Amino acid sequence: MQVNVKIKRFNPEADKRPYWAEYQLEARPTDRVLDVLNEIKWEMDGSLSYRRSCAHGICGSDAMLINGVNRLACKILVKDLGADIRVEPIRGLTVQKDLIVDMEPFFDAYKAVLPFFINDDPAPAAERYQSPEDREIFDDTTKCILCAACTTSCPVFWTNGRYLGPAAIVNAHRFIFDSRDQGADERLQVLNQPNGLWRCRTAYNCTEACPRDIPITKVIEEVKRELLWRRA
Ligand code: SF4
Ligand code: F3S
Ligand code: FES
Repeated sequence: MQVNVKIKRFNPEADKRPYWAEYQLEARPTDRVLDVLNEIKWEMDGSLSYRRSCAHGICGSDAMLINGVNRLACKILVKDLGADIRVEPIRGLTVQKDLIVDMEPFFDAYKAVLPFFINDDPAPAAERYQSPEDREIFDDTTKCILCAACTTSCPVFWTNGRYLGPAAIVNAHRFIFDSRDQGADERLQVLNQPNGLWRCRTAYNCTEACPRDIPITKVIEEVKRELLWRRA
């Protein structure tokens, strides 16, 4: 089928402002948007810039705003979009070139919540035991691939780039509710700051955007309840 692809492009070194570039090409309905972008870059316009790596929904590097919704370019098929495809960089982060944004503020927020296992007890001879029931509590939040589709679809983040954002809260949840971890108080203290957890206005955009189907808004509510419970 013939597809018309509009891509919002911007090279800060050459352009005064972003502009729409249009490309017409043949694509199979089962092609992914990433295949279409590759075709454009490799066969039509080598100057187009975007991130991608695994091409299988695992590395999280190709989140883009596609027909108005944050998605992974390697997971959305042409047949699910139709002949008109519009691709823009994810919002709320500075565009470095075309579809590439500066991810540093996103990863700074991620690092702020201490997204690693904390336990100062001496290491046991074998593994640290955890029951299947305890593991299940944070199963959803182990699935995050740090694609930023959630945080960059959040209206609170658009207006306040210092909001830690849903991805950071998801990754805090992954350790706060791990029965083997001892860093929950420290993480909750970070999330209780003015640009933390309480900025969330339950907009749900994050939940709808997550390519891993993590129930993010529910996760955020669980962390809020845990914070209130520990302070009571
Ligand atoms: Fe991406 Fe979902 Fe992780 Fe957010 S929670 S960064 S949308 S995988
Ligand atoms: Fe934003 Fe998600 Fe809350 S979109 S306002 S973090 S529910
Ligand atoms: Fe890795 Fe799409 S290229 S998630």
